[in-house]
Amino acid sequence: MKRLIKNGTLVDAQGEYRQDLLIDNGVIRARAAHIQPDDETEVIEADGCYVMPGGIDVHTHFNIDVGMARSCDDFFSGTRAAACGGTTTIIDHMGFGPAGCNLHHQLARYHDYAADQAVIDYGFHGVIQHVDDDILHEMAAMVQEEGISSFKLYLTYRYKLGDSDVLRALARLKEVGALATVHPENDAAIAVRREALLAAGHHEPWYHPQSRPLACEAEAISRMINLAALAGNAPLYIVHLSNGLGLEYLKLARRQGQPVWVETCPQYLLLDDSCYHLENGVDYLLSPPLRGRCEQDKLWVGLAAGDIDTVATDHCNFSHAQRMTLSGGDFSRCPNGLPGVENRMLLLFAHGVLGGRITPSRFVVLTSANPARLFGLWPRKGNLQPGADADLVVMDPRGETLISHQQLHDNGDYSPYEGMRCQGRIRLTLSRGEIVARDGEFLGRRGHGRFLARAPFAPELNSLLYPAPH
Ligand code: URP
Ligand code: ZN
Ligand code: ZN
Repeated sequence: MKRLIKNGTLVDAQGEYRQDLLIDNGVIRARAAHIQPDDETEVIEADGCYVMPGGIDVHTHFNIDVGMARSCDDFFSGTRAAACGGTTTIIDHMGFGPAGCNLHHQLARYHDYAADQAVIDYGFHGVIQHVDDDILHEMAAMVQEEGISSFKLYLTYRYKLGDSDVLRALARLKEVGALATVHPENDAAIAVRREALLAAGHHEPWYHPQSRPLACEAEAISRMINLAALAGNAPLYIVHLSNGLGLEYLKLARRQGQPVWVETCPQYLLLDDSCYHLENGVDYLLSPPLRGRCEQDKLWVGLAAGDIDTVATDHCNFSHAQRMTLSGGDFSRCPNGLPGVENRMLLLFAHGVLGGRITPSRFVVLTSANPARLFGLWPRKGNLQPGADADLVVMDPRGETLISHQQLHDNGDYSPYEGMRCQGRIRLTLSRGEIVARDGEFLGRRGHGRFLARAPFAPELNSLLYPAPH
């Protein structure tokens, strides 16, 4: 099947081009100023629209079991929502498995969760919940045989790692060609503060950000940067950055040539800690928590300047009903995480591009090109060159979207962005040349998504990722 997208503005990491784009058999075949369709080619009119690589969301948690609950989106509903929001690839963070399990244990589970369910292509990040010789040995096979070239480790939560385990894991991940991603928060500081707050009878959502202020996160970021340096300059990727102090530590490390990258999320750019005072404050409980409004500006500056490399969602959906049933409104008993996989592309486009903060090209860099490079999907994904998968989003800057959970495609019961009116509209999403969503309507197919065995982390791509904003 051939499709020709005509009269749009193609946007890639390098710039904008008034070109048509020909798709043949799921792959981009050609791009040129004027391409004539033959009789078998379906023409898609994109006049006035941007035609961009489909989004790559490198931080989701579908079907995650956090002990007290399982998130309400599985790989079908989660990827369906992603597709309707212009995202064509997700990389999901595997959740923790039983104590002592090996790396392949969770991988097998996640293959079962996703196979025949996902509507767009997907990969997995490994999870390191303990470190011993067997785990260190197993990392090589995960990268070379299974296509898992990134792993997450946690400095808080149940399976937090201590410094010696972090050091051993970082050094080995570098050796086997994998990127270490980390959830950075100082667990001990959080525990002390949480106990004090609860002992004083402070259980309301407003006390959640007070139990884990930004110094807890910034301290853990600086610690990880230094441990990565000690582990022979192991490549490091910080997930879900929420604040400017952490960003300063990262900028300092980069000035010294350290291979570190950082992701932020729309919730940290657009929501703030006043949400915890709302009647539905439990709906905003996530970690790190939402911060004061001044932190948002620092993150926006970092996005535009090239100091922040990716925008992902950390989509981890627990419904309002789940949250209230489990916690009764107590922040310390509520599962953490926010939904948002369907809103990332539009929110960043509306507030970033149309808000005058970033160029369309920088938008592509943040939402797909850098994610593809960092996580072993380049040049097949995140790019509009002939030969790449025809994973595309057609974005209309003249349209408007009112975010309302009723229109979304996840399995939850609320959106943290409810009622936001955004300039811009996602007209079309294509996954390997197939139309999977049109104007908010899901047109895809359960099982269309394929597992992506990712290439090992490529240090030679580093120079392409550092600043160079357009
Ligand atoms: O609160 C959050 N972010 N939940 C999802 C798991 C994680 O820490 O990324
Ligand atoms: Zn995390
Ligand atoms: Zn997460």
